[in-house]
Amino acid sequence: MKKPLTSIVRRTDWPTSVSRPVVTPLQPSVVYSSPDPDALDAQYADASGYTYAREGHPNAQVLAEKIDMLEGVDPASGGGIVTGSGMSAIGAVFLGLLKAGDHVLGGDQLYGRSLRLMAQDLPRLGIETSLADPTDAAAMAAAIRPNTRMILVEVVSNPTIRVADMEGIVALARDRGILLMVDNTFTTPVAYKPLLSGADIVIHSVTKLLAGHSDATLGYVATQDADLRRKINDANVTWGLTPSPFDCWLAERGLHSFHLRHRAAQDNARRLADALAGMAGVKQVLYPTRSDHPDHNRAVALLGGQGGNMLSFALHGGRDAANRLTRAAPEIAFAPTLGDIGTTLSHPPSSSHRGLTPEGRAALGITEGFFRVSVGVEDADLLIAEFGAAVAAASD
Ligand SMILES: Cc1ncc(COP(=O)(O)O)c(C=O)c1O
Repeated sequence: MKKPLTSIVRRTDWPTSVSRPVVTPLQPSVVYSSPDPDALDAQYADASGYTYAREGHPNAQVLAEKIDMLEGVDPASGGGIVTGSGMSAIGAVFLGLLKAGDHVLGGDQLYGRSLRLMAQDLPRLGIETSLADPTDAAAMAAAIRPNTRMILVEVVSNPTIRVADMEGIVALARDRGILLMVDNTFTTPVAYKPLLSGADIVIHSVTKLLAGHSDATLGYVATQDADLRRKINDANVTWGLTPSPFDCWLAERGLHSFHLRHRAAQDNARRLADALAGMAGVKQVLYPTRSDHPDHNRAVALLGGQGGNMLSFALHGGRDAANRLTRAAPEIAFAPTLGDIGTTLSHPPSSSHRGLTPEGRAALGITEGFFRVSVGVEDADLLIAEFGAAVAAASD
């Protein structure tokens, strides 16, 4: 018998088995040992193995490959890249592909932090930025400069649920040789596949609908171009934007039910939008496939009638009515996120759009009684009843 050890700091082999686990194993190892220096050299040369988790790890790769299948990413490009958050996906693209002197044109209703990145952080790095209305491709074209290197748009805007003229913007980017990055977080590949529609780069906040349970903060970026992919990946690794294995593992589990959650949440959103439109205290409802939506025809044509899980509505009343509404709906989390399995409610004037002046908000139609709803998979009748009671309390 071997002499008992006083310290068990010994590397042991993983038990061998002819069977395989059904669930993806969680691999938290920060580092991987190689047999010898030649093997390590070869590993770096042909990227044939893992070395250090910041440079890549199996849980990120498994997750990326699954989102690739939804977005239609050609594996020959090297495949999608998972990042530590949606913002780091956008950051990796900017850091990997832009240089001082370039200009980036953004849609004027991007997610708040993306707007901040455009307004403050890129200019600090010597990168020019400007914004234009993505529902109007001619307005985007008019904003192109000789040094415009990239366009960033979201297909469905936050929180006013406007639908971008993607066909016009794709054609514009193609004609002018400008890279087009699409943030597909709201829309999801169920309704729109940017890479298959002519965009160069797609990003996601995986934190939202794809992972779906508000327990993992992650991003994703993909392109069909191997050279762009290499540059974005280098930025991801160098700037340390890579994700935690545990978050990737959780997100992969969430992703397995994405199509079911999406279908159920979208059905609920359609029903809730119609119910809200019939409530006396509600002034306006914004849901893309409703016939009164300003971009209804485009939503039907572009999104194939997939209105998604997001809707917005405005009360007749102002801030007091808004306060009464959230207090009267304790079951509906008043929380500034979206894409959770449960319904969440956000109030842009006090959260994502609080940095704008009241006039700036008014120009977007965001009044003090304006709410955005990320609809979940609850029983639809229950949701409608809870919103009905909350809107009635707000109107008192
Ligand atoms: C459309 C959109 N893009 C990007 C992000 C940023 O994602 P994350 O919070 O994962 O960094 C968000 C976050 O809300 C978002 O709504």
